[in-house]
Amino acid sequence: MSHTSISNTYEDFVKGFHPKSGLDLKFYKQNQMQRRILSFMNSHGYPTYPEFLKALNADPVLYDAFFKHLTINVSQFFRDTNQWKTLRQTVIPLLIQSKSQLKLWSAGCSGGQEPYSLAMTLMEYFPSTKFSILGTDIDVNVLRQANDGLYKQNDFASTPPEFLQKYFTSSDKGYQIKDSVKRNVQFQHQNLLTDRFQTGFDFIACRNVVIYFTEEAKEMLYKKFTEALRPGGILFTGSTEHLFGLAHLGLKPVSSFFYQKGF
Ligand SMILES: C[S@@+](CC[C@H](N)C(=O)[O-])C[C@H]1O[C@@H](n2cnc3c(N)ncnc32)[C@H](O)[C@@H]1O
Repeated sequence: MSHTSISNTYEDFVKGFHPKSGLDLKFYKQNQMQRRILSFMNSHGYPTYPEFLKALNADPVLYDAFFKHLTINVSQFFRDTNQWKTLRQTVIPLLIQSKSQLKLWSAGCSGGQEPYSLAMTLMEYFPSTKFSILGTDIDVNVLRQANDGLYKQNDFASTPPEFLQKYFTSSDKGYQIKDSVKRNVQFQHQNLLTDRFQTGFDFIACRNVVIYFTEEAKEMLYKKFTEALRPGGILFTGSTEHLFGLAHLGLKPVSSFFYQKGF
């Protein structure tokens, strides 16, 4: 197959996949996405995009497996330990200087590990601060896990052992997050690229989500995040996601991976 015909067919696939999934792959970098789609098609025995699209429409199990493969929902509690230390020592103290109640959002929250880590941090180190946390994701399967709050040992590689004891109950099924943590966290289905955002957030974490987004999609998203923050609110990005040259959005770095909206 020539490169041109793959490329044309990819565009048709993107058009055909959008109505069913709500996921518009034109916002994602073509090279990486095409590679991921072709590797899935190969390993499941579909030689062409039209055959694969037909199978996705007919087989919900295949569709779920493919959606999971595309959205890459790997996460962990307290992923990137150093950033959580900065959050605790510098960022939250800055936020609560002027407010005793915080509104936080974990955008692209996967199975809930990130918003629950935020909740535990506030409960443990800032017990007099009231807060609410929103967790959103495009993948309904990860949101099911987030709502269930049940995790396996390997979700906790970066978690202080005393947190595991204090905020989870263990059983033969795994580790269940306690209701005292859960009650402050709400989950919602949302596509960051197309849906409207709430506003007035003190803090937004969007980490390891934009890796496959095009530069235009990232720019649009960071602009929407900035609008969703209150003046003085802070955006937390992933450990490879430096926002160089985005000062025009009105964000300035507080520390690596934390950006504050101007007052
Ligand atoms: C690698 S996980 C990151 C989870 C967590 N933020 C962390 O850093 O551990 C990326 C998540 O982004 C979600 N995602 C990808 N594209 C999205 C979109 N357009 N809207 C909302 N969520 C999206 C995926 O479903 C996945 O759960």
